[in-house]
Order: sequence, then structure tokens, then C-alpha cells
Amino acid sequence: MKRVTKAVFPVAGMGTRFLPATKASPKEMMPIVDKPLIQYAVEEAVAAGISDMIFVTGRSKRAIEDHFDKAYELESELEIRGKTALLDFVRNLLPRNINCIYIRQAEALGLGHAVLCAKPVINDEPFAVLLADDLVAAEPPVMKQMVAAYEDHQCSVLGVEEVPRAETKSYGIVATRPLADRLDKISAIVEKPRPEEAPSTLAVIGRYILTPQIFHHLEKVAPGSGGEIQLTDGIASLLSEQQVLAYRFTGKRYDCGSKLGYLKAMVEFGRRHPEVGADFSEYLNTLKPC
Ligand code: G1P
Repeated sequence: MKRVTKAVFPVAGMGTRFLPATKASPKEMMPIVDKPLIQYAVEEAVAAGISDMIFVTGRSKRAIEDHFDKAYELESELEIRGKTALLDFVRNLLPRNINCIYIRQAEALGLGHAVLCAKPVINDEPFAVLLADDLVAAEPPVMKQMVAAYEDHQCSVLGVEEVPRAETKSYGIVATRPLADRLDKISAIVEKPRPEEAPSTLAVIGRYILTPQIFHHLEKVAPGSGGEIQLTDGIASLLSEQQVLAYRFTGKRYDCGSKLGYLKAMVEFGRRHPEVGADFSEYLNTLKPC
């Protein structure tokens, strides 16, 4: 069996929902308390046993490369000031065996196109895809749960959760048949259906494990929803060749691509933060309802 050792992070999107904050810096660098969203996603991949991190980047995304790179000036400054704890922290952002690989997606042609850009690095192996704006608090981390499901069934696995019917137009939605505990067989998948047309209310979140056969399908799909090459359409085509499973993860997902989801994550991660959590909770308790 081929193990999942590579993860793709599509980070070329413009982040228009957070303008002007994202005008000059990537939305994936927005922090939840003190850690950028992309770092949460990479740490989740590390916890799942993944060692090659493939970032599909675009213009004005340099900050992501800098974040995972060595920071000579910062390190020598911290060293001079004797700030050893902080120095350790910035030096050991990632374990030493982790490789970071950057691919430029010259045009924002959609999520499916971004994943296809990683094909030359992935070759013939199963791989994970993580969308950093879906932040999931889970133990074990959600990608680790999904790798276990992949190892049991050796086929593509998508992370899913129930959403209100009114929200189907924001997600890939699957039609399924039960297979095992937390696992369903997908019979159909459609990108952002209107509530009255959605085959169910089971939504795909930004966590995927895909077999390399997905690439042949992505090469063939025509632009779909929003005029973009959709990963969902590639998966719909893959279904004609292979089984694809939906995995109902345990954990709580925050849609950090929306302002409300981002604020919820900030408050809940803030309350649990080892340094400021207790004081922050106390402060929240003093707030009067608006
Ligand atoms: C993307 C996918 C969609 C999926 C969603 C999860 O949409 O196209 O199928 O349900 O991520 O967050 P986006 O949120 O990038 O529009």
C-alpha cells in the first residue's frame, strides 16, 4: 500500500472576503491568536505523518514562503537579546524532516486547477489536500483520522459534515450510501448546488485524500461553477472509475474564509490559549450582551 506522505495547500486565492486586510498579505497568514491559518493546516498534516508540503501559491503570497523559511535577521536579533524561548520557537516551526515545496499557479483558474499544478511533484501517489481557511479543532487531528480511513479502504476520502440546507450553495455536496461507522460511499457530488437542487445536506469541507487518478480527470474537466476548474467536478468524474468515500470527522470546523467563522475561531482558540486563555475568558465574562 502506498502511504500518504504529500499534502497540497492551494494558497493562490485572492481572499476578497477579507479586503482590505488581504490586499497585500495572504489570507492564509491571518492569525488565530498568534499562529497563522496556514501553520495550523501544516501542523495538521505533520500530525497525520505527512512530510512533503506542497504550496500552490500565486502573486503576493511571498509571506507564506518566508514564514516557513529561516529568518536570519530575526534569529540573530533574538539571540543578541537573549530571548531563547522565542528563538527556539521560530527556529523549530516545523520538524526537521519536513520539506516545503512551492509551485506558482500563474492564473487563478480554480481549486481543481490548483491541485493539477501539483501533479509533477506528486506523480503516482495518494495525497492530501488541505484548505487552510477551514480550521478544524479535533483530537486526533482531522487529517490523521482521514489517513486511518484511507489506510483501511485505500481509495479517495473526503471530509464531510452536515450543513443547514440554506448553505448548500457554498459547498461541494455529496449524495451517499452508508458503508461503515462515520464512512459513506459517495454516489454523486455537485459543486455549490442551490438548496432546492442539493442531493443532500452533507457538505465537503477543505480536507481531501485523493488517489493520483484524479489528475487524468482534472485534465479533462471543463470550467464549472464560477467559470473555474472545480476539484468537485474532477471528483465527480473520478467516481466513474473508482470508489470515493465521505468521512464524517469528529471535531469542530470553523469557516475562517468568512468573517463570522473567523471571529468564532479567534474567540474559542483565544479562550483555550495556554498564555492568555484564562484572562481572556475572564474578560469575556465581563462583557454585557449588546
Ligand atoms: C471549496 C470547494 C468546495 C468545498 C469548500 C470547503 O470551495 O470548491 O467544494 O465544499 O471549498 O470549504 P470554496 O470555499 O473555496 O469556494
